[in-house]
Amino acid sequence: MSDNRFYITTPIYYVNDVPHIGHAYTTLACDVMARFMRLDGKDVRFLTGTDEHGQKVEQAAANAGMDPKAFTDKVSQSFRDLVPAMGYSPDNFIRTTEPRHYAACQALWNKVLAAGDIYLGKYAGWYSVRDEAFYAESETEVGPDNKRRATASGAEVAWVEEPSYFFRLSAWQDRLLKFYEDNPRFIAPQSRRNEVISFVKGGLQDLSVSRTTFKWGVPVPNDPAHIMYVWFDALTNYITECGYPDETAPNWKYWPADLHMVGKDIVRFHTVYWPAFLMAAGVAPPKRVYAHGWWTNEGQKISKSLGNTIDTVALVKEFGLDQTRYFLMREVPFGNDGDFRRAAMVQRMDSDLANAYGNLCQRVLSIVAKNCGGAVPAKGPLTDADRPLLDKARGALAAVREKINEQAFNEALTTIWEVIGDANRYVDAQAPWALAKTDPARRDHVLWVLIETIRRVTLLAQPFMPGSTARILDQLAVPAEGRSFAAFDREMASGTALPAPQGVFPRYVDPAAPAPAPKQARKKA
Ligand code: MSP
Repeated sequence: MSDNRFYITTPIYYVNDVPHIGHAYTTLACDVMARFMRLDGKDVRFLTGTDEHGQKVEQAAANAGMDPKAFTDKVSQSFRDLVPAMGYSPDNFIRTTEPRHYAACQALWNKVLAAGDIYLGKYAGWYSVRDEAFYAESETEVGPDNKRRATASGAEVAWVEEPSYFFRLSAWQDRLLKFYEDNPRFIAPQSRRNEVISFVKGGLQDLSVSRTTFKWGVPVPNDPAHIMYVWFDALTNYITECGYPDETAPNWKYWPADLHMVGKDIVRFHTVYWPAFLMAAGVAPPKRVYAHGWWTNEGQKISKSLGNTIDTVALVKEFGLDQTRYFLMREVPFGNDGDFRRAAMVQRMDSDLANAYGNLCQRVLSIVAKNCGGAVPAKGPLTDADRPLLDKARGALAAVREKINEQAFNEALTTIWEVIGDANRYVDAQAPWALAKTDPARRDHVLWVLIETIRRVTLLAQPFMPGSTARILDQLAVPAEGRSFAAFDREMASGTALPAPQGVFPRYVDPAAPAPAPKQARKKA
C-alpha cells in the first residue's frame, strides 16, 4: 500500500568542498527519520548523494589542476566515506554524473519543453557561482570594497549576458500559491512557509535554465551548446532515483517523496522551482520540504576563509559516534540556527548520556546481575508507585512518533529523557538494594519495572544512537525481531537469562588533561 512507503532525501552535496558539520547534519536528520520509519514498519527509501556539475565544481576542478570527472570522482568519495563514519543508512548514493541521471534530466526537459514552459531567449543579469543562483539587482548590494554581493548569502555576483533557455516561472505564480494552500504541510517550519508564500506573492520572473559559457553539465537535448542550469539538473536527482521517465520502474512507487530535507539556504529551489518544474512536466510534486537552520562555531559563522569549519569525523573521534549524533539532534530545536560549543558537547555527553541514561542501565543491570541470578526478575503485582513510570514508558512511542512526524527531533529526545529521569527517581525512591532483606519479591518486581522501562526507552533511542542502543538491547537479551516498534508492547519475560552488564556511555576524558595522579599521592593530598 502506498501509505506504507516513505521516501526521504538529503540535498545532494556539491563536490567543490570536503564534508563538514552542515552536510553531516542534514544527512543525520534524514538518517534518524529513515531509521525511525523502518522500525515503525514502513517501506523506506533513503537517498543521499553528490551534486557534481556546474560552474562552481568546474572551477574547483580547474583550481585543483584536474579534469572535472577525475576531480568529482575523488571528492564524491569523501562524501561516501561519511556514510560509515557517521553511521548513516542510505539505500542508495546517487551521483549526477551517472548516465541514468543524464537520461532523466533530458526526459524532464523534453516534457517541460513540450508543455510550452521552456523557451529560448537571452539572459542579462546577476549570477553567483558560489550560490549557483541568479539574482535580481534588488537582491544584491555593493559593499565598501565596490564588489556586488547577494544580500541573503553574501556571495559575490557577476554580470552575465548570454543566450539562454528560460522556464516560464512567471506563469506559475497562482498555481504555486494554490498548491501551498491545498498542502499546508508542504513547507516547514511555518516561518519558512510564510517566507516562500510572500516571495511568490511578490511575483515571479522567468528562470534561466541553461548556460552557454561553461561545459561541465548535462547538455540540453538537441542544442548541446547549452548546458542545463545546475539546479534543474540537481533537483532531478530525486526522480532519477525512482527510475524517471520510466513510470513502470520498480522504484517509481516511492514517488512523490515524503520528505526532502534541506538547509534554509536552499528552500526557494525546492519549494518554488522544483514543484513548478514537476507540475509543468505532469509529475506530482513532493509531499514535504523541511528547512533546518544553520550551525555556527562558538558564535562565529562557519566559513572556509575563517578556517573554522567543523569536521564531524573529528568530533566522532573525540566524543564518540553516538554521542555526536545525540548532541547534534538534541542541542538545537530543529529548524532553528544553533551554535556549536565544545563545553555544551561535553556537558551533554556527561549529564544526559553517562549520568542519566548510562547510569540507569548500569545500576539496574548490575543489581540484577548480582542479586537475581543474572536473569530478568519476576514481575509482581503493580502498585500505584509503579504505574506512573510504566504508563509514561508505554505512552512514549506514540509521543515520540508525533514529534518525529513533525521533525521535532530535540523534542522527541526530551520525551525519551523524561522517562529516563523518572526512572532514575524511581530507583532512588524504591531503593531496591534496601528491599533485599525486607521484601525480596517487591525488589524483584521493582527491578522488572526498571528493566522493562529501559527496554522501551532504548527501543525509541535506536534511530538516534544505533550502536549504543544495540549494545544495551543485547544486555537485555532482546532478540533482533524484538527491536522493531511492532514489539514495543512485548514485555520483558521473567526468567530470561541476561549477559553480564557492561557500561555503554563513558564520561568525557579530556585528551589534553594531565593523567590522574597515582592513588597514593591522591590520598596524601
Ligand atoms: N548542491 C546543493 C543542493 C542540491 S539539492 C538538489 C547544495 N549543496 S551544499 O553542499 O552546498 O549544501 C548542502 C546542505 O548543507 C544544504 O542543505 C545546506 O543548508 C547545508 N549546510 C551547509 N552549511 C551549513 C551549516 N553551517 N549548518 C547547517 N547546514 C549547512 O546546496
